[in-house]
Amino acid sequence: MTVDTSANDWTKARRKPVKSSATQDDSRTDKFSGRIVYEQGLLSNVSILRIGAVMNDETAVPRTPAVCLEPDWTPTQRPDLPLNLDWKQAASARFEFSFDLPAAVPCLGLGERFSALDLRGTVHTLLATDNSDHNEAADPLYKSIPFLILYSGNQSIALFLDSAAPQKWDLDSALNERAKISLLTRRGWQLYVFGPAPVPDLVAAYTQLTGRCDQPPRWSLGHFQCRWSYPDDQTVRDLAVEFRSRQIPCDTIVLDIDYMDEYRVFTVSGERFPRFNSMVSDLSAINFRLVTIVDPGVKYDFDYATFTEGSRLDLFCKKADGTLFLDEVWPGVSAFPDFMKQETRSWWSEKLRFYTDQGISGIWNDMNEPAFFGKKVVLDPDALELPEPERQLFMQETESGPVGHLEVRNLYGFEMCRATREGLLKQRPDERPFVLTRSAYAGIQRHAAVWLGDNMSWWEHLRKAVPMLLNVGLSGMAFCGVDIGGFGGHGSAELLVRWYEQGIFYPFFRNHSMMESRAQEPWMFGEDVESKIRHLIETRYKLLPYIETLFFEHRTTGAPLMRPLLWHYPDDTVAARVSDQFLFGRDILVAPVVERATVIRPVYFPEGRWHSIDSDQVFTGPSFHAVKLELGKVPAFVREGAIVPLAEVMQSTAEYRDNGITFYIFGDTADGAFYEDDGSSFACLRGSYNLWQLTWQNGNLHSECRKDGCEGSTRKYRIKHGLTERSVELNTTR
Ligand code: GLC
Repeated sequence: MTVDTSANDWTKARRKPVKSSATQDDSRTDKFSGRIVYEQGLLSNVSILRIGAVMNDETAVPRTPAVCLEPDWTPTQRPDLPLNLDWKQAASARFEFSFDLPAAVPCLGLGERFSALDLRGTVHTLLATDNSDHNEAADPLYKSIPFLILYSGNQSIALFLDSAAPQKWDLDSALNERAKISLLTRRGWQLYVFGPAPVPDLVAAYTQLTGRCDQPPRWSLGHFQCRWSYPDDQTVRDLAVEFRSRQIPCDTIVLDIDYMDEYRVFTVSGERFPRFNSMVSDLSAINFRLVTIVDPGVKYDFDYATFTEGSRLDLFCKKADGTLFLDEVWPGVSAFPDFMKQETRSWWSEKLRFYTDQGISGIWNDMNEPAFFGKKVVLDPDALELPEPERQLFMQETESGPVGHLEVRNLYGFEMCRATREGLLKQRPDERPFVLTRSAYAGIQRHAAVWLGDNMSWWEHLRKAVPMLLNVGLSGMAFCGVDIGGFGGHGSAELLVRWYEQGIFYPFFRNHSMMESRAQEPWMFGEDVESKIRHLIETRYKLLPYIETLFFEHRTTGAPLMRPLLWHYPDDTVAARVSDQFLFGRDILVAPVVERATVIRPVYFPEGRWHSIDSDQVFTGPSFHAVKLELGKVPAFVREGAIVPLAEVMQSTAEYRDNGITFYIFGDTADGAFYEDDGSSFACLRGSYNLWQLTWQNGNLHSECRKDGCEGSTRKYRIKHGLTERSVELNTTR
């Protein structure tokens, strides 16, 4: 074979220097001529400094909707700033921040990053992007959460740069122990500096400021089955029957884009789902819920009411010259609602009646970066400034007037989810809504659960799911998960089982895959695999009381359900570096196998004794142990000293109300908590719930009723301690 090299200009390689954004600082002078406002506040006992940059030509600091609770701010003079924090306006549409990043300080949080737990050593771009190439170079991704924790045990510090404009966080890529953020905006910003404080306190304060996830509807904590796409009525019905006849627990079937009439949102294909209403009610009769996907792109079609209505009401994004912005997505050429406008959100939330009227339980908002097939790159990755507003893709209407899309792009998904949640609440005021989103900005946890987009059926993606979800949880998004089994590519029996072993601990628990990939419903790989997966999903359902108790803990403290070991063991320097294990609440340590043909893996056990869930083995920490984790076994260990409430196996969470609960007691003295509510209404937010603090001493269970606010069920309680098992009564104050 001859190779013609004449077409290649090899000198080009030398002409383009490798850029490090840490050193590329073209302008040394500060162009800022506005006003900096310093304020001090306190949340969750953590002191917060807010630094606000007000531009000269702006009357107010532009606010994002991230912050939902303002502490009592006290104006202050410029205080001493930690970490030699500094900033300047380097160009008319660029601010640069820098701060020290000592080598020993791991960086955590920052939302969704394709990374190990520690985010150091590279640049993280925050600009909402539909990026399905999840590899080492994947940057940016779908979500933009500018909240970073600099971990120093109980003296950790966190930064939250509240601006929806594009940001690049260079976490010491030059290895000179300095970090740099470049923010491309013309609109000012607010930087919150939290701490120093322990990580749980920082997250408590951040989630007080930006909100927490409410107690989810119980059904949304069950198993979701999804595929792009179950094409018709009969397939969906058969799928539900298959789950029930095989006795594999499942609560929800998710309908991907093909349920629609040519991908027109707020329609159903009459051809493929001719009896949509009756399908929904037949499924409901066997305790199945339906969730439908709703994308933002509205088909450009003058015979389609949603499009003509949105145009007439002037609710779509328009270019600076006043013409409609159009690009292609699934429906072909489409218009995009401007969710920054209150009128658009109200319109959209009203339109959701289409789904609630037909008994749809929840909404999945996808492609809401928003994704455009025609314009995959919305900003040159090397851009040092934002283009002028009129040269950006389109304009958006904010409360402080029209702005270029890029200034607020990171809010598109957030505002769409806000509209969706408001719609569900309007239509069903007494039911907790369920919204799932791909794109997000800080504070999204108030409106939606998140999943991490288009992963692949690859072992590497199974491995990365743990640190990615840990950082997502530390960034406030406690209700999170990734597609179990992997979305793209062809899975294997072994991978699917290993994925369920890990996935039963995802707060959001969904199996999803794309159309060309090998089917991965739990029974697709034969009986042995099916029975292993059944055992794992049953374990998930048994954990329901523990999971609901953890969500109660989240809403009262901000603690994520999946936590890095450092959360509970801040003095353990080894625990701080563990990226491939996690704590599910305080008491369950999960150490998933993430490699093919592997049954033994090193597991780090923090201080104490740890009891394997699926075997009789007990391990003592602090220490690494080589642990045998056979395929299909739950890769988790309970801390000695814990009481864990477990339910009986059920096929759907609808069976939970009267389901018996057993308190599993580990050790001679132990404690734990148990929370219950009605599982669906908002009464729990007004105090209608029950909460017990349980202690075990001298062979007796003491149940202190901390809250006795809702009618108990007729369920029976038992305890299990070693070989002893007996029924117990819980104290009530009634
Ligand atoms: C996007 C989503 C994926 C979905 C597909 C079709 O790729 O991330 O989950 O299945 O669109 O709607």
